[in-house]
This record gives sequence, C-alpha cells and structure tokens, in this order.
Amino acid sequence: MTIRAIVLAAGKGTRMKSGVPKVLHELCGRPMLWHVLNALRGAGIDDILVVTNDELEATIDDFEVRSVVQRQQLGTGHAVKVALEVLEPLAGGRVLVTNGDMPLVREGVYRSVASSLDGNGAPMSLVTVRMPLPSNFGRVVRSGGDATRIVEVRDATPAELEIDEMNAAIYAFDEAALREAVTHLRDDNAQKEYYLTDTVAHFVENGKRVRPMPCDDAAQLLGVNDRVELALARREMNARLCAQHMRAGVTIVDPATTYLEPELEIGRDTVIYANTSIGRLSEIGEGCTVGPSARLSNAVLGKGTTVRESVLCDVIVGDGATIGPFAHLRGGAELGNDVRVGNFVEIKKSNLADGVKASHLTYLGDATIGEETNIGAGTITANYDGEKKNETIVGKNVRIGSNSSLIAPVRIGDGALTGAGSVVTKDVGPGERVVGNPARPLPKK
Ligand code: UD1
Ligand code: CA
Repeated sequence: MTIRAIVLAAGKGTRMKSGVPKVLHELCGRPMLWHVLNALRGAGIDDILVVTNDELEATIDDFEVRSVVQRQQLGTGHAVKVALEVLEPLAGGRVLVTNGDMPLVREGVYRSVASSLDGNGAPMSLVTVRMPLPSNFGRVVRSGGDATRIVEVRDATPAELEIDEMNAAIYAFDEAALREAVTHLRDDNAQKEYYLTDTVAHFVENGKRVRPMPCDDAAQLLGVNDRVELALARREMNARLCAQHMRAGVTIVDPATTYLEPELEIGRDTVIYANTSIGRLSEIGEGCTVGPSARLSNAVLGKGTTVRESVLCDVIVGDGATIGPFAHLRGGAELGNDVRVGNFVEIKKSNLADGVKASHLTYLGDATIGEETNIGAGTITANYDGEKKNETIVGKNVRIGSNSSLIAPVRIGDGALTGAGSVVTKDVGPGERVVGNPARPLPKK
C-alpha cells in the first residue's frame, strides 16, 4: 500500500526571530525542508504535500513538491484539515504526517512508521522517544501498550510533565479515519489551537487503539525551533556527511572543522585537512589533497590534484594540478592537467591548458592560455576597458615576463615572449619577442 505524506510547515517560527520562514533556514547548504523531503523520498514516499504560509509558498517551486497555503495558522490539526481538502480521497489510503522542522530524521523512521498500520486495523500510529526532562515536546500518556492521549506542555499537569516519553510528531494515519477525526478537533486548550495530537484521544474514545512506536535515537528527532537548535542540527548532519565519505575511503583529518553538504562526490584516498568547506555539488577525484583552509563551491577536481588555503567557486581543474596557497579561482575558470597556480593568483572565466604555470601575484580574466605557457609574477590581463570585458588569447609555450600588462583584446602567438614590465597593447606574432611600454618587437635573433 502506497502512502502519501503531509509536511506541516506553515508555522510562524517565531523563535527564529527571522524574516525568513523557519524551514528555509539552511543546514549543510540545504534548507531544513530539503532535508525532510529528501528523507521522505529516500523512504519511497514521493507523493508529498507541504502545508505552507504565504512567504514559504513564494519559494516552494524550488522543492518540486505539491503545496497548499494555510492562510491562518490555527494549529497542526487545522493544517492537516487544510491539506486533506486538496488531497484527492483515496479508498484505503494511508497518510504520513510530520513537521517540516525536523531535518535529522532518517528514512528508516519514515519507512517503519509508513508500514506500521499494515494489517492491524489501527487508525493511527505515532513515533515516540524518551528524552531528558524538562522538554517542550508533547507527552505521550499511555495505558499499557497503547497511547491514550498526547498532552502539550502548556496544558499538562505537573504529574504529566514528569512523563519522559515524547511525541516526535511523525504519525501514520488511515486516511478515512484521519478525515473523520479532524472534524472533531476543538481549540479549547492553552494555545487556542486545533491540535493534531488530539486525534489520539478521539480514536481511543471511539474504541480504537493507537500504538506508540518508540524510537531509541533521540538525536534524529531534534525539532529546530531557534538558531541554537539549528546549529546543533547542523553539527549532527555534518558529522553524518563526514562519516559517510570516510566510510567510502576519504580521509577527513578533522571532521569537526570540515564542512560538507549533501550530494558531493569525493574520490577515495583523497585527504581533506582542517578548516575546509566543500559545497554545491562539487566533485573531487581520487587521491586529491584539499585544505587546510580551502573553500570549494561547485568545483570539479580531477585526480591527484592539490588545493591548499584557496577559494574555488564555479571552476573545473584537471588531474595533477597544484593550486595555492592563497589562490582565488572563480566564475568559470577551467584549468587543465598539471597546471600550477600559486600564491595571490586570481583567475576568472579563463581557460588554462595543460602544464600552464601562473605561480605568483597574477590576475587572469577572460583569458585563454595555451599549453606549457609560463605566466611571470605580477602579470595582469587588463580585461575591462570601462565598458566591457575583453579577451586575452595566449598561445602555447609562451613566456610572459614578470609584471607584464596584457591590454585586452589582445593575442599573443605560440612561442612568443614578453619582457619584464611589458605593456602589451597590440597583438604579438608567433615567436615574436616584445618589450617596453607600449611593448615593441625586439629584432629577430
Ligand atoms: C508539536 C506537537 C508536539 C510534539 C512536537 C514535536 C502539536 C499540537 N504538538 O508541537 O506534541 O512533541 O511538535 O516537535 O502538534 N504548523 C502549521 N500550521 C499551524 C501550526 C503549526 O503548519 O497552524 C507546523 C509548524 O510549521 C511546524 C509544525 O507544524 O513545522 C509543528 O508546529 P509547532 O507549533 O512547532 O508545534 P510544537 O509546539 O513543536
Ligand atoms: Ca516545533
């Protein structure tokens, strides 16, 4: 039996003290809601409806998921009612309901609650967890093996507050039973809200049984309500991502200061040193060395490449290259195999062929550099004329002297040479040697 999911995410998230909806706050480079949807989909639940508010609705397309706006946040029970109004009734259907603010839940928990109603005739089951007191979670009141009701902290008696079995807010319902139950909810409680949790008492009063499903991993069930909990969740998620790559053959010297995101590819025997962050779908080949203190964002590295103390955003680097320390590669830089880029070099939207060296104090923008060319220290492509960006094209085996300024648009032919301090304003032919400001050809040898 397939199961559909409703994810509640319309709440105001007041404790975040933010202009941004709570579930859009990021951990490990992805919004909280992304993590929830990812785990649900990982559990094989693809038909998902998110209950949003107006602000969240404006960005919901990013998540490729169905949504419905709950205009007034009248409580979790009301939110489910709103969702059921747009969900096509399905005879014998099941519905998983959960909160959008629990980014650490693993697929296994969703899987087991999704299958928990099979064959037992129960209208509902819910995940529970033991937690140290005090706690803000709703308490699960039991009679023997069954739950009889859930009591929210603000409605609880002192005796009920002593209960340490909590409602994790992950439920499976028989759809018809849920549709019936939400029509009976009332808001006669401390928060004047329609609580989804009151469905438990409703079922029990009608002679049905509700089975708690205890989960022994409280860390997974952390709800994020403020930025302190967001940081805790990030640390836990990051530790998981590091562990996953270490188990797949990557050495991470200090997981506590290595910041990863989901959906990265990192080849085996790559070593990542401390203070390094790798994000946005970066792909790193085998046997690379990354860090210390490197930042890679949408970066592709081949095999055996080294990146130390450098920033690489939106770049592709081949095999056996050496980058840094203190290099900045960005905006569509493409570097071939065995390229060497040293300290204080910035490269933007440029293509460096195999074996190119730019070892010190250089800016290359909108440039194409041929194989084995050496770019001397302090070389600058003057690519911007005040109105537009212009291209610099340098051939193979060229020697660009220290402190050359290449005033784009300009072309320098294969095997050419510029003397130290040259200001190259005109094209230089293959094998030609130029010097001076403006650079002029030297007599042929
Ligand atoms: C809820 C549960 C509580 C449980 C806890 C676990 C209820 C009444 N209580 O409490 O038993 O222990 O989760 O984290 O359900 N939301 C809407 N629309 C609304 C109100 C809330 O979509 O009108 C969404 C929120 O965005 C949030 C989720 O529902 O994602 C939970 O709402 P919240 O108010 O945070 O409930 P809790 O007090 O955490
Ligand atoms: Ca909450």
